Amino acid sequence: MIQCPRGTRDFLPDEMERRRFYEGRLRDTARTFGFREVETPIFEDSELFILRSGPNVLKELYAFEDKGGRSIALRPEMTAPVVRMFVNGMSNDPKPIKVFYFGQCFRYERPQSGRYREFFQFGAEIIGVATPQTDAEAIATASAMLKALGLKDYRLRIGHIGVLRQRIADIGVPQERTAEVLQKLDKKLYDEARPILADMGVSDDDMEALFKLTETVGGTEVLSEVPGEAGDWLRQVVAFLDAMGVRDVEIDLGVVRGLDYYTGMVFEAEAPALGAEKQICGGGSYTLSELFGGERVFSTGFAVGFDRALLALEKEGASYENAGIDAYVICASDDMRVEAARIAASLREAGVSADIDIMDRKMAKAMKFASSAGARFAVIVGARDLENGEVTLRDMTSGEQRQVPVGELAGRIRA
Ligand code: HAM
Repeated sequence: MIQCPRGTRDFLPDEMERRRFYEGRLRDTARTFGFREVETPIFEDSELFILRSGPNVLKELYAFEDKGGRSIALRPEMTAPVVRMFVNGMSNDPKPIKVFYFGQCFRYERPQSGRYREFFQFGAEIIGVATPQTDAEAIATASAMLKALGLKDYRLRIGHIGVLRQRIADIGVPQERTAEVLQKLDKKLYDEARPILADMGVSDDDMEALFKLTETVGGTEVLSEVPGEAGDWLRQVVAFLDAMGVRDVEIDLGVVRGLDYYTGMVFEAEAPALGAEKQICGGGSYTLSELFGGERVFSTGFAVGFDRALLALEKEGASYENAGIDAYVICASDDMRVEAARIAASLREAGVSADIDIMDRKMAKAMKFASSAGARFAVIVGARDLENGEVTLRDMTSGEQRQVPVGELAGRIRA
């Protein structure tokens, strides 16, 4: 038996319906905050992702050469594609540009619970402005999305990559090795960072002070410990969030982020119930446009890891009830099949979701099927009823049955 490729999943109808339901909630929230939807190709020139992160990123990409000899990659995320789209066709539009997207991304990672090779992101970008209020808008949108999903147990942590970058530069780390250090700090791998920093001539005291800085965590009161402009910036972000009623945030200077295009505020949300792969949302402010041939434009955005957010909901015991269908049309005898088809068609025409027995089942079996399909009503088409222009309408929950004129059927079901 052929299975789907490692790290990918099939979504069966029940699961797919649940996913669409939650996707709808995220979409509604994005629109409420003034974002408009965009879509970009699932594959791009590999260059788009290599430009910022270097050729090493190829290891994590699904990249291949197409028949024309071009190096192509399945998108590992959607920020770079959206910024490319902006540079190509939106750079003259009035700013800020607020867009959102939902789609699958591909990363060649070791699959485990909550980590897939094909996964879905719901993201949003505010392009063309860098102010504390912009950052607050992005964080508030993300927070509203997590709430709209119905998630209860999560932490939203805000940091500032500028603080760490500055400190790393101040203690003598050469610019081209900053990413290497940040990577270790991101994972809190201090023991692995020590020899690297020592190799660069960083003193033990400076090292420990750097690690301590990444441990600056707490409520907004710790903002007083955040030095310089970054501290002022974050204080303003938090003030805007407070004005918007977003108070479920923590400050954490240890938020480093895996991707290296961030320049200022960075934030993450995690759902502790998920264990190792608990990060359900990540974002921050960045610039990328100048790399893709445009002017340097500041942006802030984030992406919710849709699959993980849904896993977290499941862990919290949130249940989703399938919508089922309004009606299931059954014929009382074989000679009624054409009439039954006519009635099903009239229901569909009236906007009532109706399915019909096409398996030539006997009544009892057809009724059982209607029940398993989640039908709210069974419509039984019998010769004697039809002579009077009626059918039998059965409420599948209460079992109550009554004769209803065919002309009133759709209205009764909808009511
Ligand atoms: P990211 O943190 O790499 O950021 O990914 C965003 C979210 O996608 C993560 O928080 C996580 O929930 C989910 N995710 C990542 N990898 C996987 C995986 N292998 N399986 C399942 N879920 C995964 C970005 O991608 C940035 N583009 C976010 C952003 C937008 N920054 C600015 N604008």
